[in-house]
Amino acid sequence: MDVVKTPQQAAVTVEPPPGEPVPAIELVKIAKTFSSRRGIVTAVDAIDLVIGEGEFFSLLGPSGCGKTTTLRMIGGFEEPTEGQILLYGDDVVGVPPNHRDVNMVFQSYALFPHMSVFENVAFGLRRKAVSKAETKARVGDMLDLVQLDGKSDRRPRELSGGQQQRVALARALVNRPRALLLDEPLAALDLKLRQAMQLELKRIQREVGITFVFVTHDQNEALTMSDRLVVMNAGRIEQLGSPREVYEHPRTRFVAGFIGTSNLITGRVRAMDGSTALLEAAADECLVVPEAASAGAGVGRDLDVTVRPEKIVISEDRPGSGRCAIRGRVAEVVYLGTSTQYAVATAGGTELSVFVQNASDADDIAGRGADVWLSWRPDHSLALVTTQPAPAESRSDLSGGNQ
Ligand SMILES: Nc1ncnc2c1ncn2[C@@H]1O[C@H](COP(=O)(O)OP(=O)(O)O)[C@@H](O)[C@H]1O
Ligand SMILES: [Mg+2]
Repeated sequence: MDVVKTPQQAAVTVEPPPGEPVPAIELVKIAKTFSSRRGIVTAVDAIDLVIGEGEFFSLLGPSGCGKTTTLRMIGGFEEPTEGQILLYGDDVVGVPPNHRDVNMVFQSYALFPHMSVFENVAFGLRRKAVSKAETKARVGDMLDLVQLDGKSDRRPRELSGGQQQRVALARALVNRPRALLLDEPLAALDLKLRQAMQLELKRIQREVGITFVFVTHDQNEALTMSDRLVVMNAGRIEQLGSPREVYEHPRTRFVAGFIGTSNLITGRVRAMDGSTALLEAAADECLVVPEAASAGAGVGRDLDVTVRPEKIVISEDRPGSGRCAIRGRVAEVVYLGTSTQYAVATAGGTELSVFVQNASDADDIAGRGADVWLSWRPDHSLALVTTQPAPAESRSDLSGGNQ
């Protein structure tokens, strides 16, 4: 049975030992394969990951990349085929879910329909034989936290989707887990409500101060909410970092395409100067690409480069010599309210997206069919490591672009 901790005991165990703090969650070469009619499916492929205490950490990736399986292994609902899972330093492989100090919130909420909000939240405490008075106090605190005080007698069906999600959250948090695992908890909500709940979840996480491991396929959601995140692809981690690092410095073609709007320029490397590559983007156009050697660039080889759409400037005249510049023709102009998106076909045969903020002096930069120059700072040319092609459903759509 679960041991109910008093607040004092919980405080003692949470205290990190002197010296190195023990990470909250550590995955060591974790792998999971399933046997199915299609044969052996590798859902998670030797993942190493360390999640710190109190972090808001996201697993981001397209459908089928292994996010849920990873989360379920941390929670104990699935056992790994290989590897270790450490919770606060202890290997928990083989330990059942209710003996791990983590709780899971599912996309479907999984509330008991015949029970009131109060009873739903109190359920776990009742099972642990917590006293009536303490149950009342703790459930009350949780309903305050998720701003559902006054709704404790309602049934789930009398609540909106967002309110039901809050009940599910309160029910998980009332057990005082050291980490909360959330599997696409906002996916069923419409956009407005989802955005409101994103802020709400951040606030709750800050207030309770526990580790959140958050699964989503929505790049904007992961970027806005996370302290750090991993981008997953086909059971593996493509990149780990803060939202800013992953957005500003995507390491692979997959990450560049999955997060934000991908602008891919592929060309032949004409020369190397230290780690900087000179890339032939079109017949008479070369781009300076710093830090290209670490991405595998070499003279005579092809290299993929990305540049974020908001870093590119459109001009009629040729820009100064300090900038990367290529010519193109405007193929499409889409007004997006705060910004305008231009699709520009380049001489090298690719199409680049450019976002221009709609400041008052930004009118009529260029219309469809206009011949223009695109330019950007050389340090905004990002050399990419080529990995396996992404599955078709992983392509991020234009409207989801980070602007
Ligand atoms: N119980 C299972 N049996 C067989 N295959 C599974 C099972 N669970 C997941 N998979 C497969 O493992 C891969 C990863 O699934 P999942 O972790 O659910 O991905 P995600 O949550 O990122 O969408 C998918 O190919 C999926 O079909
Ligand atoms: Mg999933």
